[in-house]
Amino acid sequence: MPYNPSLNDIKQDFPGLVTRYSLADGRETRRHYLDSAASTLALNCARQVADEFLQHYANTHSQAHFSARIANRAYDWAHQQVLNFLGSPHAKHIACFAGSGSTAPLNRLARLLAARRPERDIVLVSLMEHHANDLPHRRHARQVIHIPLTGEAPALGAVDLAALERLLEHYRGRVNYVALSAASNVTGIVNPVHDIAALAHAHDAWIIVDASQSSAHAPLTLTDNGTVERELDAVAFSGHKLYAPGSPGVLVVRRDLLEGQEPDELGGGMVDDVSLSGYQVTNHFPDREEAGTPNIPGAVQLGAVLNVLQRIGMHRVHASEQRLLRRLLAELSAIPQVRIYGDPNPERTPRLGVVSFNLVGLEHGLVAAVLNDYHNVAVRNGCFCAHPYVRELLKPELWELDIDLDTEDTETLIKPWQGMVRASLGWYSTDDDIEALLNGINDLLAHSDHYRAQYQGDCDGNFHHRAFKVSAASLFDPETTLDRVLARPGVREALLESRTGLCASSSDNDLRMPTPDPLLPEV
Ligand code: ALA
Repeated sequence: MPYNPSLNDIKQDFPGLVTRYSLADGRETRRHYLDSAASTLALNCARQVADEFLQHYANTHSQAHFSARIANRAYDWAHQQVLNFLGSPHAKHIACFAGSGSTAPLNRLARLLAARRPERDIVLVSLMEHHANDLPHRRHARQVIHIPLTGEAPALGAVDLAALERLLEHYRGRVNYVALSAASNVTGIVNPVHDIAALAHAHDAWIIVDASQSSAHAPLTLTDNGTVERELDAVAFSGHKLYAPGSPGVLVVRRDLLEGQEPDELGGGMVDDVSLSGYQVTNHFPDREEAGTPNIPGAVQLGAVLNVLQRIGMHRVHASEQRLLRRLLAELSAIPQVRIYGDPNPERTPRLGVVSFNLVGLEHGLVAAVLNDYHNVAVRNGCFCAHPYVRELLKPELWELDIDLDTEDTETLIKPWQGMVRASLGWYSTDDDIEALLNGINDLLAHSDHYRAQYQGDCDGNFHHRAFKVSAASLFDPETTLDRVLARPGVREALLESRTGLCASSSDNDLRMPTPDPLLPEV
């Protein structure tokens, strides 16, 4: 019987939850990691599966030896986990791994779909996209049209279905596909992707979904009712946002869209034969789409995360995060100086555990710096690689700044205000994390003059403490960590053993001593 853990059983199984830093006021406290929308922490049990796999590590292009067979099986298993996770155990969709986030899969999709229907010159992209699901389409389509959102800034909602339908009608026969995220990385606002699939398909357009922000936080299946009308043609997501840092990006796409198309990348492992005059690309998926040696341990780690999430049930993961999100939204909304971006009513506009906000009169860079330096709360600030969306959300208040475009250095004046602060949740987030954030905000609002005096802003909109300087190297330095690891009991013996073994195995005809390895400690 497989063991099905509960959500709480492994809520603590993430390295980095008890990391402590010294703060500007001399206290040393636990880090509150509220930056999961950028990258989640690593699920330890999945990392352990990948670590154990390293005992058998071998290249999947090898076939005959035990380890090669193990590696091939484990790598296939990782692909199958992806398909199972999206509710597609059948052969209709292909899962393949590419790059280190969803950027490589989305670039590939943009090129692939443009090549499939070059006569269709328009792609519709939602206004809330991360650059990864916007810029590739701008490169490969003749024209990208951005789909408006519902509501008014700063309380914009999800994709405006009526506006989308009008665009699809107006450009009937010209729209190749609709590209949008399942949830925004800026506001967490969720799009009804299956309703949009139905709309797109009714106009003979395809739909591709960037699930980078949603995959770790909410259930998502390729079709919600088993019909092809509501089925997603392609989905991309990132392992590093899904509790598997170091794992590849994921592309799931309908097999018939890939078939017959020249693969994006050429190299080893995706050809049946090569001669000096030509080459024969294999018909076997996903090999055809995965040129070169893949990131096998990363894929195995990601496969293990997806398997754990399926055992727990994504609806449970979602429900647990929603409780914290609602508390965060309610308590932030109760502070008059907090401006929340995106419709803050989760009943009206569903969102995942991401809240971007500003404090009236305080620069986003200053807020993020104070939260970090005095409260050990890790948030991200800026435009989150979604500049058009952030601009749209900020439009009313940037307008209020009333900067004279002719006479002022507009760039320098606007920069500190052109962005927001983002708090984002993960599986491991707790009420304690939310309280730390709220305490930090209230403290900053109560002593804003004092805090402002401690900082100097730079031309990029970042704020630096005048007296409290902490170098990253003093907190973690790969080289000194390596020294420490090498000096650990056991490591020294293992190294010495391997050196002795090397000497003993030298043949009688080869009496040269091995060149000393500079990494080996003196004996
Ligand atoms: N795209 C990542 C984010 O939203 C890095 O922060």
